[in-house]
Amino acid sequence: MKPRKFKEIKQEYDTYYRSLLKQGKLPLRSTELGFWNAAISDEVYAAFKKLNLQKYKNFMDLGSGDGKITLIASLFCKQAEGIEIDDELHEKAIEYKRKLNIKNADFHHNDFTHHSIKDYDIIFINPDKPMERGTEEKLLKELNGKLIVHSNHFHPMHLKKETSFNVENTLISLYSR
Ligand SMILES: C[S@@+](CC[C@H](N)C(=O)[O-])C[C@H]1O[C@@H](n2cnc3c(N)ncnc32)[C@H](O)[C@@H]1O
Repeated sequence: MKPRKFKEIKQEYDTYYRSLLKQGKLPLRSTELGFWNAAISDEVYAAFKKLNLQKYKNFMDLGSGDGKITLIASLFCKQAEGIEIDDELHEKAIEYKRKLNIKNADFHHNDFTHHSIKDYDIIFINPDKPMERGTEEKLLKELNGKLIVHSNHFHPMHLKKETSFNVENTLISLYSR
């Protein structure tokens, strides 16, 4: 929760996105293993409040991009982690964690298919590809907690859907194994 700290995170990232726009770039692009497209801060914060994210202890964002979602999750959970393949986005996440002085967030620079997710009680994904291209198989083997899917398009076929709601135009769904 911590609305004041949320505002600080949002402002820092908005400044970053504006600096990209000034260079003629958009806050979206291809990466080595997918496509980066930053989720909207207010929508994710509202979704986390609605899901009572504070019930969970250990958060993981699979494909954490610039780290914003992990830093927002750190306002709710004891520990928040993100994993991202792209060098520049991973560095950005570390930069903002330090700048915002957030101690309970950590970032891994790796392919998430090689990182065990068994010990996290809440997983987040804003998928950049259909889940049947390997991600769902991993979730079916390793998901011990719940999964938040931030997507209008890509959803798991074999996990159990617990709830689903829209925040503005984005569909948020909660799954378990
Ligand atoms: C749609 S973006 C989501 C970024 C962030 N979670 C958000 O919601 O703002 C998806 C990210 O997943 C990363 N990604 C895709 N496949 C990956 C993999 N196997 N391992 C690590 N990162 C991956 C991409 O590089 C991209 O930054």
